[in-house]
Amino acid sequence: MTQTQKILVTGATGTVGRQVVAELLARGHSVRALTRDAAKADFPAGVEVVQGDLTEPDTLMPALDGVTGLHLITFGGPYFAPLETGPRILQLARAAGVRRVTVLHGGGPSLLEDAVRADDGVEWTVLMPVEFMANALEWADGIVTSDEVREPFVARLSAMVHEGDIGAVAAVALTEEGHGGQEYVITGPELLTVADKVATIAAVRGREIALVELTEEQAVERWRAAGHPDDVIGFLLEAYGNTPEVGRTVVDTVEKITGRSARTFGQWAAEHVEAFKSPSAGATP
Ligand SMILES: NC(=O)c1ccc[n+]([C@@H]2O[C@H](COP(=O)([O-])OP(=O)(O)OC[C@H]3O[C@@H](n4cnc5c(N)ncnc54)[C@H](OP(=O)(O)O)[C@@H]3O)[C@@H](O)[C@H]2O)c1
Repeated sequence: MTQTQKILVTGATGTVGRQVVAELLARGHSVRALTRDAAKADFPAGVEVVQGDLTEPDTLMPALDGVTGLHLITFGGPYFAPLETGPRILQLARAAGVRRVTVLHGGGPSLLEDAVRADDGVEWTVLMPVEFMANALEWADGIVTSDEVREPFVARLSAMVHEGDIGAVAAVALTEEGHGGQEYVITGPELLTVADKVATIAAVRGREIALVELTEEQAVERWRAAGHPDDVIGFLLEAYGNTPEVGRTVVDTVEKITGRSARTFGQWAAEHVEAFKSPSAGATP
């Protein structure tokens, strides 16, 4: 067990940040969690909640006081708008004596990520997870209301990763020696098609789910109706229709860094099974 350290987690109310918080706590560290609205945030006992906004870096000064490690996101608004304030955030972190920084890579160019990589005053680690297993929660409504998943590109392969494993890699990189200057691609332990994922959820909840393949045009129409801007739709089309090799290649980062096997989609589905069950209907064969 390493010595207890105090870590500031940004994006702490989010899918990944929540897991970074949990994994740090599980390792006995002290966690300060950043949110723009402390009144709405719901953290585990023992977490120190601080209010601040990454788009206004000077609001972070009290949050940075006394921390040895900092977990950063690269966005600061709707549709993951890239932060313009990265260099100032890094400047403040260094001045506060932060020693280690992890960054959750966002997929596109990032001033914040550039500033972190260029900073030889901190031990930085860039976390590059592939598709999150939590994305499957987007199917919950269709599964609960009509036992159906409607998706384009159903044969695409994904090495999707459990968010808890991203949190675990982050927690190790933030608190242990030897991860400075590293970029870690983080995947799950298996390659799955959309059909595999749907079958896994169906098996775990004990009720069949129909998979309906959407055409590309139908998918675009659905994303437009959901209010996604054109650049986001373009990103989704590329990510789903032409998944880059890194997104469909299993690597052993989780095991190497944490000493534990990467969690499977079956484990993830079992943990989230209630989200896929109708509150009124029991499971039927
Ligand atoms: N989904 C995927 O498959 C996937 C795969 C690889 C990488 N990624 C990347 O992962 C990132 C998304 O992470 P996530 O899913 O964990 O995020 P998320 O669940 O959408 O959570 C967003 C978090 O960002 C915080 N936040 C937003 N604007 C902020 C600001 N101005 N100041 C301070 N905090 C702010 C929110 O905090 P409050 O609202 O509490 O203030 C919240 O904690 C993106 O960069 C995405 O590109 C996603």
